[in-house]
Amino acid sequence: MRLLIQGGRVLDPAQGVDERLDILIEDGKIARLGEHLKADGAQVVDARGLTAAPGLVDLHVHLREPGFEAKETVATGCAAAARGGVTTLVAMPNTRPATDCPDIVRLVRDRAAPTGINVLPAGAVTVGQKGEQLTDFAALKAAGVPALTDDGVPIQNLALLRQAMLEAKRLNLPLLDHCEDRDMVQNYAVNEGAVSRQLNLPGRPAIAEELQIMRDVMLAEETGAHVHICHISTAKGVDIVRQAKARGIHVTCETCPQYFTLTQEEVLRQGAMARVNPPLRTQADVEGIRAGLADGTIDAIVTDHAPHTAEEKARPLPDAPSGMVGLETSLALALTGLYHTGLLPLSRVIALMTAAPAALLGLDKGTLAPGRDADLILFDPEEEWAVDKTNFASKGRNTPFHGRTVRGKVKYTISRGTIIYMEG
Ligand code: DOR
Ligand code: ZN
Repeated sequence: MRLLIQGGRVLDPAQGVDERLDILIEDGKIARLGEHLKADGAQVVDARGLTAAPGLVDLHVHLREPGFEAKETVATGCAAAARGGVTTLVAMPNTRPATDCPDIVRLVRDRAAPTGINVLPAGAVTVGQKGEQLTDFAALKAAGVPALTDDGVPIQNLALLRQAMLEAKRLNLPLLDHCEDRDMVQNYAVNEGAVSRQLNLPGRPAIAEELQIMRDVMLAEETGAHVHICHISTAKGVDIVRQAKARGIHVTCETCPQYFTLTQEEVLRQGAMARVNPPLRTQADVEGIRAGLADGTIDAIVTDHAPHTAEEKARPLPDAPSGMVGLETSLALALTGLYHTGLLPLSRVIALMTAAPAALLGLDKGTLAPGRDADLILFDPEEEWAVDKTNFASKGRNTPFHGRTVRGKVKYTISRGTIIYMEG
C-alpha cells in the first residue's frame, strides 16, 4: 500500500519542517518527504491548499466503555477522534469497571483495534478509583499503560498519594493529576465567584485547584515522580507550575480549549452545557492560561472529551454531570483562539497538539519523520465553519460551542497509512 500526499504545506514542528513538500507513505510508514515525488502507482491525495501535520495526540479522553455505553463507546469515541484529526489518544480509566487491572486495559485496546485510532488506556492509581488501595502498577505497565491517573476522583489521602508517586517513579510512569480538593468542591456545579453568587449556588473555588497543584508539586519534588497536571484552569495554577519548572521539578501540565476560550459567564447563557470540572473561570484566568501557553509553561493542549447523554445534561444545573465533548472541535478551537488571534504561530499550536504531548509520555508519535507511523492530518487552517453538534460522530452532543463560528477544518485523517476520515 502506497499513498502520495501531493502539493501540501508540510508542518512538522518536531523536525522543524514548514514547506511545500510531497509525502510518500509506504506500508503504513512515512517513507519520504520531498519535492515532486513520483507517484509510481501510489494512490494520490491532492493536498494543494491544505496543510499536512502529524495526527493529533490527545492525552485526555473519556471513552466511557466499559460501563457507560449510553454516553459513548470506544467505537463512537474513536470515530469522533478521526473526524477531529486525533490519531492517538489516552483513554481515562473512570469506566465501570475502572481500568485498574490488565484485563480492562486489554478490553479497551481490543475494542479500539478495528477503529484505526491508537488508543492507550491509562491505568487507575487506586483499585476502583476509590482512593484506598494502590493498583498493581507493574502489572499495568506490563499491560502497556502509558501513565496512571484517578482522573475525576482525585486522591485525597496524602500518604497513599506519596506512596503512589514513589512507586510510579520507580517504574518510570507519569501520574496524570486532576487537581481539585474534594472537600472544597464537593459536587458543586460552577466556579466560586460572581456567577455562583448570582445563581445562589455554592461554588468550586480556584484555590481548591491551586492548593492541590502546590501540594502535588511539592510531592513531585520530594519523590522525584513526574506529575502531569491535568486540564489546568487558573492563572495562579499556571504560575505555580511556572515556578516549579524553574526550580527543576519534574512537573508538566495541559489545558483544554474551553479554558482559553470561555469564562464562567457561559453558565449563565448555557446552564449545564457549560458545566465542567474544573469549572470555567474568570477572564483573568483565561488570560493566565493564554500567557502560560505563550511562554511554554503549559506543555500540551488536550480535550478532556467527556460525553454525557442529553437526558443527563438536561437536568437542573446542580444535578447535571460535568463535562463537555471536545474531540471534533479541538483543532478548530485552538487555531481560532490561539493562532488566528496572533498569540501563537501555527507551528506552535500544532506542536502543542502533537510532538509535545507525545514527548510527555515518551510516545513514538507526533512527527512526520521518515520511518515513523504515517499518522497525519490534512487541514485547511483558514476555512470558517459553524460547529454543529448534530453532525458529531460522538454520541455526546454536550458542547458549549454549538453554533459558534470557528476557523480551521480537518479534511483528511490518516492513521498508519490508511485514510480513516475524509470530509464529506
Ligand atoms: O468535567 C469532567 N468530566 N471532569 C472530569 O474530571 C471527569 C469528567 C467525566 O468523566 O465526565
Ligand atoms: Zn479531570
